[in-house]
Amino acid sequence: MNKPEDKLQGDGGRFEGTTWQDLLDLEQVDVPDYLRIKSNPYLGDEDLPVDRYISQAFFDLEKDKMWPKVWQMVCREEEIPAPGDHHVYKIIDKNVLVTRTPSGAINAYINACLHRGRCLRDESGSVSEFRCPFHGSTWDLNGDFVGIPNDWDFKHLEGRDMRLPQVKVDTWGGFIFINFDPNSQPLAEYMEVMPAHFERFPLEKYWKGLHIQRKIKCNWKVGAEAFMESWHTLETHKQILTFTGDANSQYDTFGDNISRSVTPMGIASPHLEGIPQESVIRDILLMSGRMAIDSDEGLEIPTDITAREYVAKLNREMFEQSSGDNLQDATMAELQDAILYGLFPNFQVWVGYSGNLVYRFLPDGNNPDSCIFDVMILLRYPEGTDRPEPAECVVIPEDQPFASVPELGALGPVFDQDDANLPAVQAGMKAKQGGTVVLASYQESRIRQLHMTIDKYINS
Ligand code: FES
Ligand SMILES: [Fe+2]
Repeated sequence: MNKPEDKLQGDGGRFEGTTWQDLLDLEQVDVPDYLRIKSNPYLGDEDLPVDRYISQAFFDLEKDKMWPKVWQMVCREEEIPAPGDHHVYKIIDKNVLVTRTPSGAINAYINACLHRGRCLRDESGSVSEFRCPFHGSTWDLNGDFVGIPNDWDFKHLEGRDMRLPQVKVDTWGGFIFINFDPNSQPLAEYMEVMPAHFERFPLEKYWKGLHIQRKIKCNWKVGAEAFMESWHTLETHKQILTFTGDANSQYDTFGDNISRSVTPMGIASPHLEGIPQESVIRDILLMSGRMAIDSDEGLEIPTDITAREYVAKLNREMFEQSSGDNLQDATMAELQDAILYGLFPNFQVWVGYSGNLVYRFLPDGNNPDSCIFDVMILLRYPEGTDRPEPAECVVIPEDQPFASVPELGALGPVFDQDDANLPAVQAGMKAKQGGTVVLASYQESRIRQLHMTIDKYINS
């Protein structure tokens, strides 16, 4: 095992080549501070027991000690715009009704009737009051008890507090979060550096342009961790290597709850040699799915500009046109790189001016071997125009490839490549029978932070 003093200590890794910070030196506009930060304290390099991913006992520890204490993203505010609009959120055995009240506030109630316990709402939707489908007990949108039929038989309820029990709610970036712990720290505090890093990206002003949900046969952490490092690109996503600086990536962890990875685009992987700029440009335009154009027909690829500069220029023009924003101070990094933040435990969102991807990984009921993966794309719209209606959540069957969703573009096949690994990771861990997994010191430091924070909850 390496000694801690040999380690990275916030120095952006040992990779001997262009770092992302080197690329920032080439920016032609001021580089905002949040991009200049490097934060990679040494977190250790012990192996992790596979039990953390496959055992019911560990799943139950997370269920009892962690999920009841953490802030968890439920839905977008724009999905419940009017009084009575509500979203049903299920996490393991818990079930919460998040609703807009007549005053415009957002309340979250335990989704269970105070009579004999039936869930008050089976699905998200819109109502004028919450009426239990079993015997008809009713609560208003503020959670105050309206009544129960045959009330002559319930004299013993007189004087009892019959308001619907509430769960703590907060919002950030247009997302609604809940926390089952009434004594939890405020969301803003829990999010540590993250709100400050998103100052240039007011996600609360964006709209949800896409939402796909699909089960994946792996532990929720196996799913989340697939998006916490980019070095699997070398083997898993070979088709994007000509324009993806996989090994040039920067990884940061901040405190307990926040981490990020930054993978530069518009440069060829250092694992490849002799890729001309022209090929980088052509491949990124055609194959990345996140760039401004999707065909090179009739395109004159210039030779006097780097791929990063060229793609940034195209994206700047395209994004300015679609959003009406002035992006003259946007960095090349923010116009093309994969800058992905993670909020403990299961929420991830991209910084940048192209559509902001959002990922969430939920446990699937009580099953440690299955999770529910949500992917959303947040988009800008011109100021002064109406916010488009948020996209409905489309649930696709487990055996249906992401590539079948045309709106995902080139991302669909990329997710399918990840999906080909994840159930096999779960199966391989089971085959290891009490074994361990190994983590890279730097490139997998975000994964280590996730486990360290989980441990803080389950050991408390
Ligand atoms: S269970 Fe709800 S009214 Fe009876
Ligand atoms: Fe991947």
